[in-house]
Amino acid sequence: MTISHIVVFSVLFLTSHLVARTSGSPLVETTYVVVGGGTAGLAIATRLSENSANTVIVLEAGSDGFNNPNIGNLSISSIQALPGSSVDWNYTSLPLKFASNQIIAETRGRVLGGSSAVNGALFTRPNEIDLDLWESAFGATGWNWNNISAAIKTAEHFSATAGLTSILSFHGTSGPIFDSQQTPVDNVWEQGVIPAVLAAGGTESIDQNGGDPTGIWYTPRAMFPNSTRSYSANSYYQPNAGRPNLQVMVNATVSRILWGNSKNGKAVATGVEYIDAAGEKLTVSGDRVILSAGVFGTPQVLELSGVGNPQIINPLGISTVVDLPAVGENLSEQPTTIYLAAFASGTTDSGLQFPNNFETPRTLLNSTEWTTAYSLLQTAPPGLSDAAHKALMAMFLNNSVIIEFMSFPSPNPAGLIFLPILLHPMSRGSSHIVSANATAAPSIDLALIQSPFDLYILTKAAQRARRFATQASLAPFLAGELLPGAAITTDAQFSQFVKDSMGVAWHPLGTAAFGSVVDANLRVNGTTNVFVVDGSIIPVQPGSHPSAIIYGIGEKAAAMLKASPLTNDV
Ligand SMILES: Cc1cc2nc3c(=O)[nH]c(=O)nc-3n(C[C@H](O)[C@H](O)[C@H](O)COP(=O)(O)OP(=O)(O)OC[C@H]3O[C@@H](n4cnc5c(N)ncnc54)[C@H](O)[C@@H]3O)c2cc1C
Ligand SMILES: *[C@@H]1O[C@H](CO)[C@@H](O)[C@H](O)[C@H]1NC(C)=O
Ligand SMILES: *[C@@H]1O[C@H](CO)[C@@H](O)[C@H](O)[C@H]1NC(C)=O
Ligand SMILES: *[C@@H]1O[C@H](CO)[C@@H](O)[C@H](O)[C@H]1NC(C)=O
Ligand SMILES: *[C@@H]1O[C@H](CO)[C@@H](O)[C@H](O)[C@H]1NC(C)=O
Ligand SMILES: *[C@@H]1O[C@H](CO)[C@@H](O)[C@H](O)[C@H]1NC(C)=O
Ligand SMILES: *[C@@H]1O[C@H](CO)[C@@H](O)[C@H](O)[C@H]1NC(C)=O
Ligand SMILES: *[C@@H]1O[C@H](CO)[C@@H](O)[C@H](O)[C@H]1NC(C)=O
Ligand SMILES: *[C@@H]1O[C@H](CO)[C@@H](O)[C@H](O)[C@H]1NC(C)=O
Ligand SMILES: *[C@@H]1O[C@H](CO)[C@@H](O)[C@H](O)[C@H]1NC(C)=O
Ligand SMILES: *[C@@H]1O[C@H](CO)[C@@H](O)[C@H](O)[C@H]1NC(C)=O
Repeated sequence: MTISHIVVFSVLFLTSHLVARTSGSPLVETTYVVVGGGTAGLAIATRLSENSANTVIVLEAGSDGFNNPNIGNLSISSIQALPGSSVDWNYTSLPLKFASNQIIAETRGRVLGGSSAVNGALFTRPNEIDLDLWESAFGATGWNWNNISAAIKTAEHFSATAGLTSILSFHGTSGPIFDSQQTPVDNVWEQGVIPAVLAAGGTESIDQNGGDPTGIWYTPRAMFPNSTRSYSANSYYQPNAGRPNLQVMVNATVSRILWGNSKNGKAVATGVEYIDAAGEKLTVSGDRVILSAGVFGTPQVLELSGVGNPQIINPLGISTVVDLPAVGENLSEQPTTIYLAAFASGTTDSGLQFPNNFETPRTLLNSTEWTTAYSLLQTAPPGLSDAAHKALMAMFLNNSVIIEFMSFPSPNPAGLIFLPILLHPMSRGSSHIVSANATAAPSIDLALIQSPFDLYILTKAAQRARRFATQASLAPFLAGELLPGAAITTDAQFSQFVKDSMGVAWHPLGTAAFGSVVDANLRVNGTTNVFVVDGSIIPVQPGSHPSAIIYGIGEKAAAMLKASPLTNDV
């Protein structure tokens, strides 16, 4: 049984609960319906509601998560407890055709705060060129390093830590998301890892956030001064939860956009339909619909609403509203391999630091290897657009960082991990619905290392991780290599190890990208008033962890929409 209720509430949400009616038009329309209360969703909703003329409702599929002890705690054990728990969507990939048929658990937060509630909280920025290319290669006018980094600063509240380097002017210091480094610093980093990286030809950074992240540094994490997680739910939304024009509903899964009469040949959204905790279908209306459902949720809601590739949606019984075949395409994820050495007895680590070492092609590769990599870069794998291919070549020639070595302690067995992350993969996959059932998971094809370039760079990174670990400065701290292990010595063996040990950074992006799904105003092509505001719009992987950029997207989108009257929606 499906009862379609109309949700009605007073202009300023003077009552704390929503009143449902069975028929009639809504008494009051919201200005903004935000689909997904995640990283970008709560940032934009909170900012839009600063203007009291806007009424804003957020519909979040998960629960609020405020009593979940593992969300606030940034210890390694708490972070590891979140994937696969009640706050994870538990997405899995199709078997990886190019990496030993493995299946990847693609963790995404299903809770207020979205993936900012479950992530590692590392707060980083990429090379300037990585963001400048959004404007120069994908037509996203106004989206360049200067504009995006200004927006990230609006989100950030950085505090310097005594005894550690940082450059205050690279950071925002009065935004809602707190971030800082953690001390005391463990000896294994100061006396072991950093000297090893320098001895192997790497460099040290004094702050990775000014447009060139190259080098190793104690990367800040998004946390309050008391070391608990600062994320969109407790830092954007909670302090403003009392605003009468901001309403957040949890346990509300949006099933589709509702459409009215089209205007000038473009689809006009009138609101959304959602499924509440009891399984009932309800609707809410609004002048603008903001999709912030994340890299899998956003293309899912678009396809369920008839916006996508007709060949994918029509056979599922969904009729085409906008023919937009790039929806759900261009999915990219950063693949990882691993290096693990056991700690020598007596080595201890607090787990407070995750020093990140970002390296460029010119540092990772010698001149022969650089030429090999550059020649592999010339061949685009299936699904990589011409614009994205050119952007990847520009980043490589610009010597933009290509590999990040994350370093952190392994709890069991106790040891040191170098986790090499391929920052600018060429391979492209997709995420599409397989059913008109809004609660069924999409089919996720990550296509990791389909490109030989990706495999080659990761292979070189796996070898370089061993070079770090075998420098003299680390000898007192380490007992012996566990992974890849002494049996792995040739290039071919390292490549096979990369395939067998394949993981992901949990940075999937790009399924509603600039230039193919949204324009520079974030408006979905072929609609007047549907916008995407989350990591789906990012056209190529930046050389960073993406959450800082995604907060910046929320901030910049809010500023743009606040300045754009509804009469612009034509
Ligand atoms: C385990 C892990 C570790 C990571 N570590 C880091 C890190 O250290 N640093 C970093 O910068 N980045 C990290 N990331 C990546 C980063 O957290 C994400 O890229 C970012 O948070 C994504 O933001 P978003 O707004 O695009 O989507 P999300 O924050 O995922 O928000 C999407 C929201 O929409 C909701 N939703 C989806 N579908 C629907 C629907 N139909 N109806 C209603 N609601 C819906 C979801 O429940 C979710 O709340 C990590 C990610 C993971 C998973
Ligand atoms: C949402 O669902 C969760 C899990 O079922 C439940 O514990 C919680 O009370 C619900 N929250 C609201 C506000 O309904
Ligand atoms: C976080 O978890 C760790 C490890 O379980 C524990 O020692 C610590 O006290 C917790 N911190 C807080 C603030 O709860
Ligand atoms: C993910 O798996 C956990 C553990 O089995 C479960 O509690 C949770 O409900 C699952 N999430 C979803 C969205 O099904
Ligand atoms: C790299 O990119 C930056 C920023 O776009 C630019 O200033 C610089 O000139 C580029 N360098 C090279 C070598 O292309
Ligand atoms: C972007 O930044 C430039 C300066 O680099 C500035 O002139 C311009 O106004 C900004 N545009 C937007 C849309 O923020
Ligand atoms: C940590 O600080 C935040 C922000 O001030 C506060 O909300 C939270 O309750 C504190 N948590 C603990 C465990 O002290
Ligand atoms: C996205 O994918 C579509 C289909 O493969 C392609 O036409 C488009 O150019 C891609 N867009 C980007 C920005 O890569
Ligand atoms: C570069 O490294 C390779 C091993 O990958 C080695 O065979 C080659 O001799 C090196 N070339 C130079 C110029 O150092
Ligand atoms: C929709 O999919 C969910 C999750 O796979 C399943 O539990 C539910 O029964 C399905 N509903 C219908 C009507 O098929
Ligand atoms: C939007 O669609 C139109 C018509 O299909 C096309 O000409 C235009 O290039 C598209 N814009 C974007 C940003 O994809």
